This record gives sequence, C-alpha cells and structure tokens, in this order.
Amino acid sequence: MNTQFFDNAAGYLPDVCFERLPDVGIMLGSGWGEALRMDNVLVRIAYADIPGLGASTVRGHTGEFVLYEREGRRIAAWCGRRHYYEGVGWEPVVLPIEILRRMGCGTLLLTNAAGGINPALKPGDFVIIRDHINLVGANPLIGPHNPEWGERFPDMTEVYHRHLSELLHASANRLGLRAMDGVYAYTSGPCYETPAEIQAYKAQGADVVGMSTVPEAVFAKACGMKIAGISLVSNLAAGISRRTLNHEEVVAAGESAKPLMSAFIEDFLGRL
Ligand code: HPA
Repeated sequence: MNTQFFDNAAGYLPDVCFERLPDVGIMLGSGWGEALRMDNVLVRIAYADIPGLGASTVRGHTGEFVLYEREGRRIAAWCGRRHYYEGVGWEPVVLPIEILRRMGCGTLLLTNAAGGINPALKPGDFVIIRDHINLVGANPLIGPHNPEWGERFPDMTEVYHRHLSELLHASANRLGLRAMDGVYAYTSGPCYETPAEIQAYKAQGADVVGMSTVPEAVFAKACGMKIAGISLVSNLAAGISRRTLNHEEVVAAGESAKPLMSAFIEDFLGRL
C-alpha cells in the first residue's frame, strides 16, 4: 500500500486529532451508524472530504469521522466503512485504522452486520467475535513491507483481545442481550453466498458471515492494537432459512436493534 495515500489523509485532519491519544477507536458498520452518544464533539468530517477515503457507497453507512469526548474518554469514531468489493483497493478500507495508528490509538472496536450460520443464532442476536476466517484469498498487508505496520509475518493467534471480549460479555450480561462468542467468516461480496458455500463455511467452523471487518482487524493486529469485534446478526445466512437475502433486510435489522446496539457500546466503553 502507498504511504503517500495515508499521508494525504492524515495531513487533512486538524491538529486536535493528534494532540491526545484516543482511548478507543470505533468502526461502525451497517446499521451501527447512530449507536454512539457523543457529548462533546471536537471534530466532525465527511468521508468525502478526506483525501483518498471517499464517500461510502453503501446505504446504511453514514460516512463521517467524529472525534468526541464522553465521560472523560476521547473516542475516535469512523461511522461507516469502505469495502474491498467497492473496487477501489485496500487503501480506503484500512485508511481509518492507519489514521487511528497515527493518532496513537491502541484499542479498537469493530462492528458489523452479519448473516447467522450457527443454528443457535437468530436475527437481532449479537456475536462477540472470537476469531475469523479470511475466505477472500487476499490480504491488505500484501505488498512492500512497511515496518511501521508491524512485522512482515505478523502473528494472528489472538486477533480479538481476550480481556476486551470479556468486557463485551460483561456488558451483554448486564443488559440481558443475546450474545455468544463466534467465528466470523469474511467473504469479498458483493453478492451474498450460496447455500452450498454457507454449508462449507459452517463445516470450517464459521458462526457468522460478512463482507467486512477482517481486513481492518488484520491490519490493526499487525500494528499491535487490541481489538474487540461485535456482529449484529441481521439475517440468517443463505439456505439457513427459505428466504432470499437483500440489503434492505440488513438495514432494517440495524434499525430495530438500534437501542440495544447503543446500550451495548456505551456499557462497554464505560468498562474500558
Ligand atoms: N452474508 C454476507 N454478508 C452479510 C450478510 C450475509 O448473510 N448479512 C449481512 N452482511
């Protein structure tokens, strides 16, 4: 990946972004866009204005970077993400993480909407991501090695930080949310999977499937960040129910889970 690309984006952000390390960086995926309560907003910038990032092309993604403070914590929130399937390469996909790294942020919460594969899951449930499977056959770290992004062959034994996952479980328990640990299978999209693919992923150990999160997690882990991940199960994966899949259903599931998502994140942030 091209370092100049990230320099241009970082150079556009106001100095306040780099004055104090954020306590946590957050990536809000499909449906999660309004999950945060922002007390004191320091910076709010549209993605379209950040060089190289570009507006999110996906409905349900707000496309705003917000640096804010709440209850003494400084939080850097990316409301919406770019995806590999948008066809613009890896740079815009991992740019938010690279900016967080340059801000000195060491803790990252990744959120997404995903299809439920595990038969115990139903729409509206949460999955606390324990591990992932990259089914895309590509990786954002491919290319010339930049030592600032960690080792050439970074370890991925524990991508999702155990203690942070425990905090997520504690929050889910306190709030009475249906949440289980699970493995997230990453596909490129943009098409949904076939029922045969879902059966194959199930046999490989996947509990949920989605088109995001893993590139960011791989990049952030290589850079040494502590990562927590949550999926909202927006639908049953292809062939698990008789229904066909569509993005409206994913967005609608996010709409109805909004209060729970917000409570979940707020409680978790309070535990950091
Ligand atoms: N498959 C892939 N990505 C998704 C799904 C799904 O069923 N639901 C939400 N994102």
